Amino acid sequence: MNIRRAVAEDFPAVRELIRQFPEQLMQEHLPDAEEFFVAEEGSPAEMGGRIIACCALEVYSKRLAEIRSLAVLPEHQGKGIASELINACLKAAKEQGVYEVISITGSPAFFEKLGFGTFNKEKYALIKIIG
Ligand SMILES: CC(C)(COP(=O)(O)OP(=O)(O)OC[C@H]1O[C@@H](n2cnc3c(N)ncnc32)[C@H](O)[C@@H]1OP(=O)(O)O)[C@@H](O)C(=O)NCCC(=O)NCCS
Repeated sequence: MNIRRAVAEDFPAVRELIRQFPEQLMQEHLPDAEEFFVAEEGSPAEMGGRIIACCALEVYSKRLAEIRSLAVLPEHQGKGIASELINACLKAAKEQGVYEVISITGSPAFFEKLGFGTFNKEKYALIKIIG
């Protein structure tokens, strides 16, 4: 398994992967192709393997980036692939000088295992959908 930045050609496969999880993942207003990381079968030397997982890092400012569109094919879940993708996103965010990364998720326990949590003082991140 190899984790790498996505390129435009990966977008149809990424779209198809996200489409498998209509209950958990937003299907519209997806991040751009180059904001995704993908996990593909095979070793780094054999680029072009089937995409089995994806995750995007959308950088809004130096202060804030969001992890979005995390999906792992059912037959590949439970192998640590999502954790690796999140870590790739966190590394990229850090390299860009971003100091807060959020996730809006239906699986908070998964993100808590990776060190995500509520704010110290504010406690909650609230969201209002206006569009
Ligand atoms: C949630 C999801 C991304 C996890 O992918 P994965 O590759 O199986 O996750 P990992 O193997 O990296 O799991 C890491 C740890 O989190 C745990 N975990 C996995 N999914 C979890 C969940 N939904 N809730 C709580 N914990 C979870 C694992 O048991 C593992 O724990 P361990 O380290 O103690 O063994 C995957 O199940 C998925 O694609 N689900 C459908 C889409 C979705 O829900 N996306 C996330 C919404 S933001």
